[in-house]
Amino acid sequence: MAVERTLSIIKPDAVEKNKAGAILALLEESGFKILACKRTHLSRQVAEGFYAVHKARPFFGELVEFMTRSPVFVAVLERDDAVAQYRKVMGATDPAKADAGTIRKLYGGNVGENAVHGSDSLDNAKIEIAYFFPANEVAPAAG
Ligand code: CMP
Repeated sequence: MAVERTLSIIKPDAVEKNKAGAILALLEESGFKILACKRTHLSRQVAEGFYAVHKARPFFGELVEFMTRSPVFVAVLERDDAVAQYRKVMGATDPAKADAGTIRKLYGGNVGENAVHGSDSLDNAKIEIAYFFPANEVAPAAG
């Protein structure tokens, strides 16, 4: 299985509940290396750019309002099969449909405020990582 990188965002709802540390710990316990991580308050422009693919969706305005409401943690995760493995650990987009033990089941509230974001493909992971992190801010795993 190939070693991959994916982008994680711990969203405002989870950060407001002081669950960022618990989520990062769960990720480490699930085998991910956290190669980069920063806390930042997304501007409207940055949030709209990040979610541009959803611009035509009816929930776009709500999504941007939510993501700019308060700070987030943005992180680069690495492990074998990282994109799929992280999506498994996140759980379904709607926390009500997420499996027990997943981040969204544990910490998500509803489909709009669902605690975390994860890249949906390896191609998008590369684009999303580059959107938030210049290459020199991503430190390769030791060993
Ligand atoms: P995320 O993985 O960050 O990518 C797009 C986000 O849109 C998604 O998680 C959801 O939080 C959000 N989203 C999807 N469907 C809805 C919806 N019906 N109402 C509000 N937000 C939604």
